[in-house]
Amino acid sequence: MDLMQKIISLSKRRGFIFPSSEIYGGFGSSYDFGPLGALLKNNIKKAWSDEMLKKQNNIVGLDAAILMSPKVWEASGHLTAGFADELVECLSCHKRFRVDEMKKDKCPECGGEITSPKQFNLMMKTFVGSVEDESAIAYLRAETCQGIYINFKNVLGSMRLKLPFGIAQIGKSFRNEITTKNFIFRMREFEQMEMQWFCHPKEADKWFEYWKEQRLNWYLDLGVKKENLKMLEIPDGERAHYAKRQIDLEYNFPFGWHEIEGIHNRGDWDLSQHQKHSGENLSYKDPETGEEYIPHIIETSVGVERSLLAFFTEAYQEVSGGRTKTTEATKEEEIILKLDKKLAPIKVAILPLVKNKPDISKKAQEIYQLMKPHFMAQYDESGSIGRRYRRQDEIGTLYCVTIDFDTLDDNDVTVRDRDTMKQKRVKIGKLLEYLSEKLN
Ligand code: GAP
Repeated sequence: MDLMQKIISLSKRRGFIFPSSEIYGGFGSSYDFGPLGALLKNNIKKAWSDEMLKKQNNIVGLDAAILMSPKVWEASGHLTAGFADELVECLSCHKRFRVDEMKKDKCPECGGEITSPKQFNLMMKTFVGSVEDESAIAYLRAETCQGIYINFKNVLGSMRLKLPFGIAQIGKSFRNEITTKNFIFRMREFEQMEMQWFCHPKEADKWFEYWKEQRLNWYLDLGVKKENLKMLEIPDGERAHYAKRQIDLEYNFPFGWHEIEGIHNRGDWDLSQHQKHSGENLSYKDPETGEEYIPHIIETSVGVERSLLAFFTEAYQEVSGGRTKTTEATKEEEIILKLDKKLAPIKVAILPLVKNKPDISKKAQEIYQLMKPHFMAQYDESGSIGRRYRRQDEIGTLYCVTIDFDTLDDNDVTVRDRDTMKQKRVKIGKLLEYLSEKLN
């Protein structure tokens, strides 16, 4: 199995990611996030919003609607060729393929002749209201940031902000992608974490450099190795239609280097377009100098699922045998998911050494109840202790707490550290403090 197959298999087996509508044979590129995937996604979103709203200065949050006036998308340029993929179609099987992914000028599926490239718009259409005619057409948002631009004045006024400041938002976006391979890398429904930084036009270059560095550091702080990240400056003619400058932050995925995050200098494109199309004045008046101008925007934009795939890949490790008693003899390969402590879905596992001793189970349950309001914890008593350690390693659990016969006499438990494998006896009365120190 190649690495990607191993990751897909682990994520299904351990409850991270399931193909959507599986009992009906699946549905295109849709995926469902299982109990652990949902926790991991939430932890990524929390790490991002903590970065934006707590660590950085002058950023506020927003939660705008997915459905907006179709005029938003006319103004933003998304309904025109600006937001389209170039596709070719096979004259025999009629499948469509992205031009930038074609290796030959024959159909990759059936070898048939292909058409010349045509533009294919990525906006997802729907109807609102009871009549399904032209006037009822609306679009599922293709990027969350448009909700930020159309609320620029609302946020500015209600929060009494001064430039420069940022608005950060996490939410679903939809694109009618044609090729959706590579698991959750490219999907039709996905979540974005986008921050728009409004600044004076003369300061846009400075802030662009600032945000490049900040975003790189965010991944490094969450355990991604420097050698697995690179920044690619996108040249003229290849940038998104709104971007004056564009950096693709790329990750070294098992299927090659690909973008995880875009950092864009969008200039005054968005606010000017919305000002023109809506007739509203979207300029900013500096309260000190009286200067009035359309702010320029630096954007940082990352997909939750795409970054999850990068964090998951980075964390995935195989070691041959010996971490637990079960594999010591067999030298079987073991998997450890070395997720950063902020991201790991389960922080602490509570493991009674044996299942059929009521005193031990009772004590273990008491400890579980004590820990679970503080850390995401899991109680597991099925299978040998070695197998349970292995299961916890596979989902990235940071600490395993084992309750054994001695615990009944001395009130000590064994705490096993995922990364160092060191085991330490800790008093039950001190356990919360011990783990809090490690985890917070
Ligand atoms: N507002 C700017 C914007 O949307 P983008 O480069 O089109 O820029 C930004 O998208 C990020 O959103 C990408 O780097 C990626 O992480 C994520 N993304 C975009 N399309 C995606 C898709 N089809 N599936 C999953 N993630 C996607």
